[in-house]
Amino acid sequence: MNEQVKTNSAGPIIAIVMFFGLAYAIVRYHIVGPVPWKDFPFFILNKGISLSAFILLTCNFGFGPLKNLGINVPEGWLNARKALGMTGFLLVLIHALISFMLFSPSVYGKFFEADGTLTLLAGLSMLGGVLAFVVLWAFNLSFQTHLREDQAFIRFITSRKFLLFAMLLGAAHVFFMGYEGWLNPSGWHGGMPPVSLVAFVVFSVGYVVNLFGRK
Ligand code: HEM
Repeated sequence: MNEQVKTNSAGPIIAIVMFFGLAYAIVRYHIVGPVPWKDFPFFILNKGISLSAFILLTCNFGFGPLKNLGINVPEGWLNARKALGMTGFLLVLIHALISFMLFSPSVYGKFFEADGTLTLLAGLSMLGGVLAFVVLWAFNLSFQTHLREDQAFIRFITSRKFLLFAMLLGAAHVFFMGYEGWLNPSGWHGGMPPVSLVAFVVFSVGYVVNLFGRK
């Protein structure tokens, strides 16, 4: 009965990331920005949740390759990867459900043309989001025991090439929705970059780590 207890830092990592994601959205949009507090429970919470999900998923994909690059990643962080991935996926699910309910020209004016159809950039962004979501779903399925026997599927979905491609879908989602605003810092509330840009910077760091560190 001398079983060693594995250290796992999932709890603190999830708490810190969610605190950061929610605090960033609250400060940027309510405190230094113009959004009324009545919009917190859905519209602004959705931004905090999507940013937290993005960071947790980047940690999930990034910790292993970071270690391969010779960086001293604590054991507790490596053991946390599965919980971080699952939590990130569940947060994305909440984000997608909230976004579906809010998706209208009166909430997201910049995504729509005057005739009520989607702009090209919004179409590309949402395509990236939906495909990234489906890929995350497939990725989660690959860890279910009954699919574990399907070696070809597992090998494909966890391969370096596929992961590097899949990360680009999430990046496309935030890039196409946000880059016009990124180029106009004078319009940033309180000088704080938009959530989409923060997510894109996190993606860029994670992508470089994966490009060089993933075997
Ligand atoms: C069915 C799938 C998805 C749909 C319908 C969707 C929809 C949306 C919408 C409508 C926005 C604009 C929100 C806003 O500005 O308030 C948004 C933003 C965002 N989404 Fe998604 N999304 C999906 C999947 C994903 C996935 C898979 C990720 C992460 C890997 C993600 C991360 C983000 C982030 C970080 C933002 C930026 C929030 C902001 O700049 O305000 N989304 N998404």
